[in-house]
This record gives sequence, C-alpha cells and structure tokens, in this order.
Amino acid sequence: MKAEIIVVGKLFDVTQAKLDKEFACHKLYEAADKAALLKALAGKVRGLATFGPNGAGAALMDALPKLEIISNFGVGVDAIDLAAAKQRGIVVTNTPDVLNECVSDTAMALVLDTLRRFPASETYLRSGYWATRGAFPLTTSLGGKTLGILGLGRIGESIARRALAFGMKIRYHNRKRKDVPYPYDADAVALAKNSDVLLVATPGGAETSKMVDARVLDALGPQGYLVNIARGSVVDEAALLRYLKEGRIAGAGLDVFDDEPKINPEWFAVENAVLYPHVGSATVETRTAMGDLQVENLRLHFAGKPVRTRVA
Ligand code: 8YV
Repeated sequence: MKAEIIVVGKLFDVTQAKLDKEFACHKLYEAADKAALLKALAGKVRGLATFGPNGAGAALMDALPKLEIISNFGVGVDAIDLAAAKQRGIVVTNTPDVLNECVSDTAMALVLDTLRRFPASETYLRSGYWATRGAFPLTTSLGGKTLGILGLGRIGESIARRALAFGMKIRYHNRKRKDVPYPYDADAVALAKNSDVLLVATPGGAETSKMVDARVLDALGPQGYLVNIARGSVVDEAALLRYLKEGRIAGAGLDVFDDEPKINPEWFAVENAVLYPHVGSATVETRTAMGDLQVENLRLHFAGKPVRTRVA
C-alpha cells in the first residue's frame, strides 16, 4: 500500500512523476473545494510535500491529524510553521546543499549585473543606441571591492569562494562568529559601513525580518550596492525602493521580493536595480537534485528510517 500524501502546490514535473511512483498523491492545489478534500483525507494522509512559498501553516496541520512528515522542496522553510510542527511531533525536512552552487552562481551574476550593468548595456545595443549615441557609459569594477556577506552559511561560503576569484575582498556578519579567514562585523550596520556590496544570504523568517533597514542602507551609502538572494522579508522593501529612487544607495540586485510573484509594480521602473524572478536554484540539474532529496526524505520516513535532511 502506497502512503497517502498531500501535494500543497504544483511541483517540478520530474519530481511529481517520482512522487507519483512511490506515493498516493493528492494535489491540494487542483481541488476546487480544498476544505472538502482535506476533510475527506484527514484520516489517512501521513505526509505532505510542499515547496518554498507554499509552506505549511498550523491550520493545515490541524486539518491532517495523522500527519507525520512535511517534506519541503527548497532549503528555506520560513513559510512552514516550525513551532506548530514541533508541537504536533511532525518531522520537517528541506533540501540543503544541493542548491549551493547554483544559488551562488546567481548571487555572482547579480553582483556582476548590478555593478557592470550588463543587462542595461544589452538593452542599449538592442535599442540601436550604440551607433547613434556612442559607447555605453562606464560602469564599476568588482576587483578590489569589498563584498559583505550577511549570513555566512553554506551558500554564503560558496559565494565568498566565487567572489575571491573575481578579486573581491570578503567580510561577514553572522549570529555567531565562524572559524573562517574573513573579517567579522558585529552587526549589519557595521558590515554595510565596511562593504562596497552588501550581499544578503540569511534565512528568512521572524528573526531576520527587515534586518536590512534604513539604518543599514544609510551605512551602505550612495556608493554602495545591495544584493539579495535570500528572502524579500530580510529587507525593508519600502525603504529600499525609496533609497534607490533618491540615489541614497548606488544600486541593487534582487532575486527575491515581498509578495512574490505579484511584486510591487514600482519595481518595474527602478533603473538602478537588476531584478530576477527568484531563479537562484532554477536549473534542471539543481531542481532535479532538490526534488530527489524531497522524495528520498519521504521514502526514508515511510520505511521507518531516519530522514536525510531534517530541519533542526
Ligand atoms: C526555490 C529557494 O526557488 O530553496 C529555497 O529556499 O528559495 C529556492 O531554491 C524555492 O524553494 C521555490 O521552489
């Protein structure tokens, strides 16, 4: 008998096909009457497959009293109510490490695109301006600049290795100082003050909410750049929009936003920002590996074995 699981939101097709082979999947996102589906399945669903923004709240857990495991597609579990899961004895798993390289590639692409303005230079060419207006304006070098990493976890360390190869210097701030060869700053304001580019790589959630606020942006200053590959919630977005429009920081590179994917339309007109639609881990290889880990955690759990990547 296949274990019954609920799939909260649409997953990567390759992952869904693998889930279908091993589990009896019920797609919550396809149900016209979600409450009715949950009621009908309450007595038998033991697993939940979710991903990033869909998460899982306490109400969903309450609707599924037999729930044993929530397996997330993604490393960030800020949309899962971890306290509620703990209270109910539900195991939560995520997909760390397999996405480090791709997310770090994305971080460096944002640093390059923001300082060197490659997307704007391509638009310039495609608009025919090269011949009519002359060379694209000069931009800013990466080499010799200081990259301040806010949140030097596994992804942060992998970004640091890449940035060093680009000739950048590294500093960081973390909750705890680490045994790494990079200078440490006591808080986000000090890190911003000492950096040319502030790169946000912390987890999301209540603890880091609006950690990058107007004070931090003031410390970064008019020559400073902000890059965020973490969660929109870590940055005070209203303040960032204001600071970019008023030239109080030089520019920003963002892969994450408040209210994705329906982001504030004001972003569309901000010229000193490079904007990606949350593509940090979005390659076939990495998304396949993330999905495989999500499936493996469910498989191990229902085989009575310890899961591979349990969230603490
Ligand atoms: C995904 C992410 O885009 O892993 C995360 O936390 O933000 C990204 O890798 C997200 O999980 C949605 O699929």
